[in-house]
Amino acid sequence: MEITTTDLGLAARVQHLKKTYGAGEGTVHALDDVSVGIRRGQFTAIMGPSGSGKSTLMHIMAGLDTPTEGRAWIGDTEITGLGDLDMTILRRRRVGFIFQAFNLVPTLTAMGNILLPFELDGRRPSAIEKARIDGLIDTLGLGSRLEHRPHELSGGQQQRVAIARALATAPDLVFADEPTGNLDSQTGREVLGLLAAASREHGQSIAMVTHDAIAASHADRVLFLGDGRIVADHPRKTAEEISAYMLAAEVAA
Ligand SMILES: Nc1ncnc2c1ncn2[C@@H]1O[C@H](COP(=O)(O)OP(=O)(O)OP(=O)(O)O)[C@@H](O)[C@H]1O
Ligand SMILES: [Mg+2]
Repeated sequence: MEITTTDLGLAARVQHLKKTYGAGEGTVHALDDVSVGIRRGQFTAIMGPSGSGKSTLMHIMAGLDTPTEGRAWIGDTEITGLGDLDMTILRRRRVGFIFQAFNLVPTLTAMGNILLPFELDGRRPSAIEKARIDGLIDTLGLGSRLEHRPHELSGGQQQRVAIARALATAPDLVFADEPTGNLDSQTGREVLGLLAAASREHGQSIAMVTHDAIAASHADRVLFLGDGRIVADHPRKTAEEISAYMLAAEVAA
């Protein structure tokens, strides 16, 4: 009998993933045989040096990019080889993504961007969803900026709009690539609180790339990437423990 992702309690999984760019001497192995699962209802932090493959891994896990080799699942659905339309629908219904570049639609207001996932799904938010969106807008301090377009917003405000958009539908699975990168420490803490609450209170599965040991200390689990491989997989650690680990890894490299 085949073991399924559900049996393993995993919201997403990749197996023997490789991603290679270019050929010959200039070949880059962005991912080099990565096998890992994102556990259901957990908040997972992904850390590692610049260029270690964190964004590449998240993009492939979210079905936004395809691997050179290996397989990927969201829940029980294998996404490698899934057609574009099926992939788009699966992603729209199940996955929220906060990108490193926020990917806001420039012609839509902040509110229009937040409501985009509903618009694309051809429906309006329910009363519960409306209340959730209001709560997100409030927590993220976006109330006075809803009618502004992205170019009229600061980088941190744009990032917060992208976060509200990714969480508005309460997707099963949220991928966040440095979601606190452009935020002041107060707003950053609010965002981490939102992500932690999403997993703890609403059972959502969160995978967050971060360079910040304090941000990673909010997670249930910390994965470390190095040169396209998973080099460590730790249960929750304090910020001091994470910093010490990163320092030791740098010294060893
Ligand atoms: N389109 C591409 N063409 C060629 N090389 C690429 C491409 N995209 C990524 N890479 C390379 O793949 C490797 C992994 O990139 P990736 O963006 O996943 O790193 P990262 O860990 O997210 O880094 P950062 O912390 O700087 O965001 C890097 O060496 C990068 O230069
Ligand atoms: Mg990156």
